[in-house]
Amino acid sequence: MRDYLGCKHVVAVNSGTAALHLACSLFEPRTISTTANSFVSTAQAIVMNGHEIEFKEGPVNLPVHFGGMPSDTSEAIIEDCAHAMGSRLKSKNIKCFSFHAQKNLAMPNGGAIALYDDEHLDELRAKRWCGIEQKDGKRDVVSIGWNYVMNNVSAVCGIEQLRELDNHNAKRRYIALRYNQELEFERMPFSPDCSYHLYWILVNDRDRFRAKMSEMGIETGFHYPSIDRFSAFKEANLPTTHYVSDHIVTLPIHPNLNKEDLDRVIKSANSLV
Ligand SMILES: Cc1ncc(COP(=O)(O)O)c(C=O)c1O
Repeated sequence: MRDYLGCKHVVAVNSGTAALHLACSLFEPRTISTTANSFVSTAQAIVMNGHEIEFKEGPVNLPVHFGGMPSDTSEAIIEDCAHAMGSRLKSKNIKCFSFHAQKNLAMPNGGAIALYDDEHLDELRAKRWCGIEQKDGKRDVVSIGWNYVMNNVSAVCGIEQLRELDNHNAKRRYIALRYNQELEFERMPFSPDCSYHLYWILVNDRDRFRAKMSEMGIETGFHYPSIDRFSAFKEANLPTTHYVSDHIVTLPIHPNLNKEDLDRVIKSANSLV
């Protein structure tokens, strides 16, 4: 995986949430800005480590490569790459991946932190297993930690999945290209740098669109409710994020989607424009 990602170290953990939590624990309490258009663990990782969270639009300290599309990393210290396994990411910030069963690289559950130097390696290795450090056959507990160790069954699945990843992502890119060329909605751009974990469109009446697609036998998704609008957070002034959150629909995209199904999704969606 280190070679695949082109980084110096990979610290394997048991989820993307664990990866984000550990990465955020590396910094003294400070303000960390992020997007509200993500899965909630992006924000929780910040808050759980005593940081002040700031939801923003534009460049942020903890960007999410949403759907796998490389986003602006000019202010990043940590990147949420849960969707971006196989995306072409150029920066050298701390990167957190998810290998949840629905992700591009699927395990029963899993995650990883990619590092480009040695700076945080020992701390992360200790914190992922109850603060334990093994040196010269001796065990010491050097910090407070968690049990975030990746289990062997997940690791074996991940090794096999890694062999297929580029092939699977090529199939996702083909689907994304067809969606991009043929759908008649405001839609996700096409980029060869994207892993296409998700493919999104914006629709006027989401409930109606999703109900009609469901009647035609097509499951769609909603990624994501804007995090700042959840009760545990405070609503922020995010006009674009809220607009997207109110109108976004994600369409089927996975390596087993055959041409017939793809044609049917496109035709069905376009019948609802
Ligand atoms: C953007 C994003 N960040 C973090 C996570 C958390 O990953 P995990 O489910 O492996 O804990 C997810 C998972 O859905 C995600 O989509």
